[in-house]
Amino acid sequence: MLVLEQLTRRFGHRVAVDAVDATLHPGQVVGFLGPNGAGKTTTIKMVAGLLVPSSGRVLVDGVDNVRSPEEARRKLAYIPDRPYVPERLSARELLAFIAGLYGLPESVVNDAGLRELQRFGLKGREDDLLSSYSHGMRQRVLLASAFMRRPRVLLVDEPMVGLDPQGMRLVKRVLREAADAGAVVLMSTHTLDIVEEVCDRVLVIARGRLLADGAVSELVARVPAHAGQRATLEDLFLQLTGSSEEVLE
Ligand SMILES: Nc1ncnc2c1ncn2[C@@H]1O[C@H](COP(=O)(O)OP(=O)(O)OP(=O)(O)O)[C@@H](O)[C@H]1O
Ligand SMILES: [Mg+2]
Repeated sequence: MLVLEQLTRRFGHRVAVDAVDATLHPGQVVGFLGPNGAGKTTTIKMVAGLLVPSSGRVLVDGVDNVRSPEEARRKLAYIPDRPYVPERLSARELLAFIAGLYGLPESVVNDAGLRELQRFGLKGREDDLLSSYSHGMRQRVLLASAFMRRPRVLLVDEPMVGLDPQGMRLVKRVLREAADAGAVVLMSTHTLDIVEEVCDRVLVIARGRLLADGAVSELVARVPAHAGQRATLEDLFLQLTGSSEEVLE
């Protein structure tokens, strides 16, 4: 279980994340929606332990991620929106490095690691340097390295950007499977179709404040029909976050 308690982050005078409360349960794929600059990445980074909250806290299976950062970090995996990879390593070496970092036996690489590379379509490329990988391949190798560790909590920040249709389908499937196997999955995205397809629940944030939290169908059902057409998730999103094109401060 992942608990966010009054989670807040300021950058100077700007409040990027403002007293967010949420409890995420195993088995759920939770979509994290909000306009550009709403606070999604900042929230995810605080959960991942990469940014310290200004106030409030994150509990990963009951473990406070500021007080016990290593224990919390072992339970979760974070896949950033920009797939940074060490260019001088091969995929296999990256997996070995990550296994070492988390104190996992080397056998994990040859077993779960290679299986995940295969699942993410990288069989035959295990020993190529990551500098030779395309953007989508880099995302895939980071996904494989995250899944190799079988995390209790999976944080994915805009995983669909730059993936081909096969890659998108794969990511949808693996996130669902991870949740079904008992993980908590939190995925930020701007792709509302994908949310409708895979997410059990959505959190909508704007200007750092959590504006809605619930099942997609329940939240959408609250939006009145318009011109005889039933409301969509897009209608809900625009109603909650405003339809103007300004980038939120
Ligand atoms: N390191 C930083 N220093 C100062 N301000 C920051 C920093 N990181 C984020 N912010 C600010 O915090 C707010 C939230 O940013 P964040 O990256 O969390 O948004 P987001 O919801 O992920 O947006 P997007 O959909 O564009 O990825 C923005 O106003 C942003 O300018
Ligand atoms: Mg972001």
